Amino acid sequence: MNQENKSIKKAEDGATFALQVAAVSKRFPGVIALDRVSLDLRQAEILSVIGENGAGKSTLMKILAGIQPPDDGRILIGGVERQVDSVQAAQHFGISLIHQELNLCENLSVGANIFLGREPMRFGFVDRAHIRTEAAKFLQQVGLDVSPDTLVGNLTIGQQQMVEIAKAVSTDAKIVIMDEPTSSLSQRETDNLFEIIRALNSRGVSIVYISHRLSEVQALSDRVVVLRDGRNAGELAKNEISHDAMVEKMVGRELTNYYARHSNPRDNHVLEVDQIETTAFPQRKISFHVKSGEIVGIAGLVGAGRTELLTTLFGITPALGGEIRIEGEATRIVDSQTAIQHGIGLVPEDRKLQGIVLEMSVRENTSLSTLRSLSKYGFINRVNEVNLADEMRQRLGTKTPHLEQPVKFLSGGNQQKVVISKWLALQPKLLLMDEPTRGVDVGAKQEIYQLMDDLAQTGVAILFVSSDMEEVLGMSDRIIVMHEGEIGGELNKNQFSEQAVMHLATGTKLEASGV
Ligand SMILES: Nc1ncnc2c1ncn2[C@@H]1O[C@H](COP(=O)(O)OP(=O)(O)OP(=O)(O)O)[C@@H](O)[C@H]1O
Ligand SMILES: [Mg+2]
Repeated sequence: MNQENKSIKKAEDGATFALQVAAVSKRFPGVIALDRVSLDLRQAEILSVIGENGAGKSTLMKILAGIQPPDDGRILIGGVERQVDSVQAAQHFGISLIHQELNLCENLSVGANIFLGREPMRFGFVDRAHIRTEAAKFLQQVGLDVSPDTLVGNLTIGQQQMVEIAKAVSTDAKIVIMDEPTSSLSQRETDNLFEIIRALNSRGVSIVYISHRLSEVQALSDRVVVLRDGRNAGELAKNEISHDAMVEKMVGRELTNYYARHSNPRDNHVLEVDQIETTAFPQRKISFHVKSGEIVGIAGLVGAGRTELLTTLFGITPALGGEIRIEGEATRIVDSQTAIQHGIGLVPEDRKLQGIVLEMSVRENTSLSTLRSLSKYGFINRVNEVNLADEMRQRLGTKTPHLEQPVKFLSGGNQQKVVISKWLALQPKLLLMDEPTRGVDVGAKQEIYQLMDDLAQTGVAILFVSSDMEEVLGMSDRIIVMHEGEIGGELNKNQFSEQAVMHLATGTKLEASGV
């Protein structure tokens, strides 16, 4: 191993570096993901790396975690140049990565996932009792109240994220990299994560934090490094970190009129939900409606039944009772095919599960749900398909080298844009969106908001779930707040406030909460 480190820069204040990345490059066919990117991480520093979708953040982190090799450049850990050529090597050097796209085995238990690949042994057998007690400890540390024996597949995405974090904490890493850890966490879970980050940090652990939520970056970071199109685009010291400064460096322009809404709901109801019971909360009954041209936000804590409501309306878990009316007509939505036939689209929370086929190209994914209308005499009209995919790519500004690129090679935010394209192509009457801007950068968020507004103006009814308070308040005509499987209350525009949403979401009375 090369121990020579003559050219290593020392921090002016004599601080030691936990990690140094020097001129790292990475090319993929048709894409330069990283172009001589450099970055220093000091010991016990919380460094955020920000940048638009496709800027190269995850690629850099995968290189540091030994998942992908760099084409060029050097990596120094604790001042010594290292070859991080496998996940084991990264772990050996004390680097742990929490993936943007969850990386757990769904058919294994929580405990087995935490100790995967480094199972404690006893008399030649995996020591399950030890796994159970140790895992329970780490789960408690991250504040996740589930048994180590629970199958990961039965957890919500937010809970799975906490398992990933427990796993990272358990490896006793010196450098913990978190790639968008909060994108599916509730506010409470996020606060909890921040406490864990600060506790790790005070024990001398260095953190690399990646997020599109700039308020989090501001609250947490000692320093911010900005990437743009695979290159270094500047840095902000603690006292320079502000929302506008970050946006400016990331996007290269100012963003104004963020939540541009032209609210004009029509009188006719596209969706009426009458006393339905979902499988998640069979004893509760839910009733509400959404008008044509109306955008209704569903707020609530994680686990309040928001996602289940959408999957029920889309027929994935059909309603157990009650009635769903589409444009006034009672409709039995028994599966997603029926939902699509009735003009319902769903942009799901977990795009890997229900949103897109990762192996398929951007073109194929875009036309996935429209094949019927594009095909003539059973043949898909290729020209129409290409035109449609290209129109959607332009409309959403999806970053892909070409339409034939498999979706799995796109960055997280760009995958989300492909999911949305797919449903736009269907021209739905009712669009259900579950965390529509999850993992999407500030500029692209604004594009998605614009699109939601455009759709509403053409009469589409939109029902969206979001844990982003600003987004719910900024985009909705009306807010439905869910609490423990039922509707805790509804807010009209003149009643909108963060406090009002939180009160209904937690089920607390105004007097009791002390606000
Ligand atoms: N395995 C791959 N094959 C081809 N292209 C890839 C591959 N992995 C990443 N890319 C491309 O490299 C670029 C950087 O992607 P990366 O995932 O690092 O972006 P990111 O900054 O993490 O974005 P996001 O905020 O959306 O997660 C993108 O253009 C992406 O499409
Ligand atoms: Mg990424």
